[in-house]
Amino acid sequence: MSTDTPAISDLDHHWLPFTANRDFKRDPRLMVKAEGMYYWNHQGERILDASSGLFCCAAGHCRPEITQAVTQQLQTLDYTPHFQLASPLSFTAAQRLAQITPTGLDRIFFSASGSDAVDTSLKIALAYHRAKGDGQRTRFISRERAYHGVNMGGTALSGLVNNRLAFGSGMTAVAHLRHTWLPENRFSRGLPANGAELADDLLRMVQLYGKDTIAACYIEPIAGSTGAVMPPVGYLERIREICDEYGILLVFDEVITGFGRTGKAFASQSFGVTPDIMTMAKAITNAAIPMGAIAVKREIYDTIVEQAPNDGVEFFHGYTYSGHPVACAAMLATLDIYEQEQLFERGETLSPYFLDAMYSLQDLPVITDIRGYGMLVGMDFAPTAKAGERGGLIQKALFKAGLHVKTTGDAGIIAPALIAERAHIDTLCDILRTVLKDI
Ligand SMILES: Cc1ncc(COP(=O)(O)O)c(C=O)c1O
Repeated sequence: MSTDTPAISDLDHHWLPFTANRDFKRDPRLMVKAEGMYYWNHQGERILDASSGLFCCAAGHCRPEITQAVTQQLQTLDYTPHFQLASPLSFTAAQRLAQITPTGLDRIFFSASGSDAVDTSLKIALAYHRAKGDGQRTRFISRERAYHGVNMGGTALSGLVNNRLAFGSGMTAVAHLRHTWLPENRFSRGLPANGAELADDLLRMVQLYGKDTIAACYIEPIAGSTGAVMPPVGYLERIREICDEYGILLVFDEVITGFGRTGKAFASQSFGVTPDIMTMAKAITNAAIPMGAIAVKREIYDTIVEQAPNDGVEFFHGYTYSGHPVACAAMLATLDIYEQEQLFERGETLSPYFLDAMYSLQDLPVITDIRGYGMLVGMDFAPTAKAGERGGLIQKALFKAGLHVKTTGDAGIIAPALIAERAHIDTLCDILRTVLKDI
């Protein structure tokens, strides 16, 4: 393992995503190795991973079972197109995934990332309504503070201003519901008591734009990237009701909440509300290989497929890497680990201990709110005069103290792998307290 700090000129060529490149390259944080709950940086220091990378390595890092499945697949069938051709593996993968998706969402389209999954789902929603003779339904509803990836559709759905600002007007037929963060819910644990009525914003959109113009409503069951903002008790149920009443498709974007983060396979199951379409990615392969997926109700698939004339192509959409055999192999190995080690149940069992530890930090003056459900916690930090500055400083200070926490603006998002032991939670909590008390 190298212990040398690379020369700044060696870092010139790679333009890092969502990064302050100039600042980073002056003092880089480079990971060179990972195993289980830990990273090692280029200076040989061990870093506890409190955010499962980017909420994606739910089974811990460098799982040999996935390495083996991927290696074997690369040696057997490295790639096949999935346009008018396929490998048996993608069918096995879809069937397997459909065993854990919410009831009825058992038709699976594969993409290469969460952003691709979101943009694919927008097109599925449009194609579905058109196939039904409802082609005037072209408007989408999202929410303030939403994050739905970075493709043009997902950018239009975004409720985070910095993710929209530089990119023009993009897809314009999108309206945003209010977010569900309310001051009176500060420090509530689990789903907050106040705010179910915010769901009625969707009714106002129906009244404003017309009852048969909206194609779909996009919801992250827990708004992850913005800092784990929870749905108030009754909120998701009310959104479901309004969608049903007005023929609007409900899309749950479970890119972060999927695969055990909330104690069940999907947040939809934890919260008892079933969408019509669901997007997922990240922990689908434990992040070993990029992959995304869209699960849709059978009726949506049937409607689109059956209206296409003469056995022709039904849906003019797909990616070179849709159903990539190596990604499918990684996914199957990952789902085996989740099942054999009962990691979703493990997360559910560990959750009270994890939440106790995180809420024990609420006496620290810099923490202005904590939100937690399952193995996902959002923490707000008192901002400086410049929004986002405190979050950035905290992320760096934690890293120096041996902890990786993803921050967005002035929020920290803590989501350890589901293999975490209580001792890892204790260490994570100790480092947070030590760093945050002096910041
Ligand atoms: C809810 C949600 N949707 C979509 C995405 C985009 O996924 P990706 O970064 O794999 O494109 C993310 C990423 O964090 C996400 O949290």
